[in-house]
Amino acid sequence: MKAIFQTRSGKPDVLQVGDLPSPACGPKDVLVSNLATSVNPRDCLIRAGRYQLQFLVPKFPLVLGSDCYGRVLSTGADVHNFNVGDLVYGLKNPSHGLGTYADCVSIAAKNLARAPDNLSIDQGAGVPLCALTAYQALVDHGQLQQKQRRKCQRILVIGASGGVGSFSVQIAKAFGAKVDGICSASNAELVQSLGAERVFDYKTQDIKTLKSQYDIIFDTIGQHSPATCRHLLAKNAAFVTTVPAPSFLLKHLASKLLPLLSIPHIRKRIVMVKPNQEQLTAITDFIQKGKIVPMVDSVYAMEDVTDAHLRSQSKRAVGKIIIRTQAS
Ligand SMILES: NC(=O)c1ccc[n+]([C@@H]2O[C@H](COP(=O)([O-])OP(=O)(O)OC[C@H]3O[C@@H](n4cnc5c(N)ncnc54)[C@H](OP(=O)(O)O)[C@@H]3O)[C@@H](O)[C@H]2O)c1
Repeated sequence: MKAIFQTRSGKPDVLQVGDLPSPACGPKDVLVSNLATSVNPRDCLIRAGRYQLQFLVPKFPLVLGSDCYGRVLSTGADVHNFNVGDLVYGLKNPSHGLGTYADCVSIAAKNLARAPDNLSIDQGAGVPLCALTAYQALVDHGQLQQKQRRKCQRILVIGASGGVGSFSVQIAKAFGAKVDGICSASNAELVQSLGAERVFDYKTQDIKTLKSQYDIIFDTIGQHSPATCRHLLAKNAAFVTTVPAPSFLLKHLASKLLPLLSIPHIRKRIVMVKPNQEQLTAITDFIQKGKIVPMVDSVYAMEDVTDAHLRSQSKRAVGKIIIRTQAS
């Protein structure tokens, strides 16, 4: 197979394109002809050897990548719910071997779902990791529920224009919640078009000066803590983060040991994304209905993977950074 791989940790230029043996397809696996993948910020950390869970990362030669999107090439003996030619997408975490920066991917059938048929390749390849992170943060940890009659949950998404943030705004909106977002002024219009009612510019508006009350605050970029957002959290609200700031982690650990230190009536959660076929299917359903439109920041050929990683490291991506793993 053709893959992007590395034989040592380092800067983006350690990534090279070449041929590697195709992955094995176990009895519970599906072999996918992978059309594209996406760059997630953790890819850059893993590449550099700085990921917090680096011990889970496979050995060199390492093929990065968590998102796969393509057509089923073959199925293992125990797989009965996918057929050759099906359009699918799925998520592979480090503990599942990563490996989606390649034109062929082996993935457990339980971590795959049928992909929507109303997306471009680039839109589809950016969905699994970020949309599942948003879904698990809001629904599993935040207890976001479908709007019932007059009860409308209020959600604040911090980092609303990024990969996770842009899905979070749309998922919250699809559930019928009222959503506000925080991002830079240049992305305000886009975030509003995704469904946010009010958008705050973090460069000109200190979060401490905001006055609303929210049932869920989802900090997609780890800028804040329950303490800095306390005045915004309604009773029984949840503060969920993807990347806990060091002060948050310390207080979180301390409050486990000394419950009195915790803020009463506030749930504090750290999301750790996991593959989930049922949730990915629910996301597919929203996409098919036009309630979620995946945002693409930029598209790169495999040979330009260095630029794709530099773009991710800029922390300015609006939506997803895509790498095409097959020529169209
Ligand atoms: N725990 C998990 O399971 C999990 C899963 C997925 C991602 N993550 C982590 O979550 C973080 C976000 O991931 P991502 O894929 O969404 O990243 P991303 O797409 O690279 O995020 C880029 C966005 O961040 C925004 N941003 C940068 N600084 C900001 C600030 N101070 N305030 C508000 N927005 C700011 C930028 O918006 P502006 O240009 O408008 O500032 C840009 O749109 C990463 O650290 C990633 O590793 C964790």
